Amino acid sequence: MPKSERTLVLVKPDGVQRGLVGEVVRRFEARGFRIVGLKLMRAPKATVEEHYAEHRGKPFFEGVVEYLCSDPVVVLALQGHNAIRACRAMMGATDPADAAPGTIRGDFATSIEANIVHGSADTDAARRELGLWFNASDLVNGGSV
Ligand code: TYD
Ligand code: MG
Repeated sequence: MPKSERTLVLVKPDGVQRGLVGEVVRRFEARGFRIVGLKLMRAPKATVEEHYAEHRGKPFFEGVVEYLCSDPVVVLALQGHNAIRACRAMMGATDPADAAPGTIRGDFATSIEANIVHGSADTDAARRELGLWFNASDLVNGGSV
């Protein structure tokens, strides 16, 4: 049985700067995912550090945090059948050199850092990240899927 779930998607600064917000949102909507939260914001450093907490201590941690804070991002909560896995699949591999054509990164991304989008990796990450970036009261139907 397909299950309806929610996932957190970010359009990173390069996606916003390059005018790809519409294209990214269009792809998810066309695939049948429903927008249940959406905002443009300058991300606070503390939020981004928490968001990427699993990468703390890795060589790219400081750089990726600084990058995400450098310019506005679009924050999306998407809902639909197997949204977490399906949205990740639509994004493609982290490094655009490995991302298949037809995926967002495979079609648009220029480097591993400037890779256009973020998507929650699994159920625990989705719950954590949705809570980090949104107040439940700002989402359609609050916290319930
Ligand atoms: P990661 O969680 O491994 O990838 P994904 O975004 O596909 O879940 O890494 C988080 C982000 O950190 C990644 O989107 C871009 C950045 N990053 C680098 O800049 N260099 C790297 O070597 C890695 C692995 C990630
Ligand atoms: Mg990740």
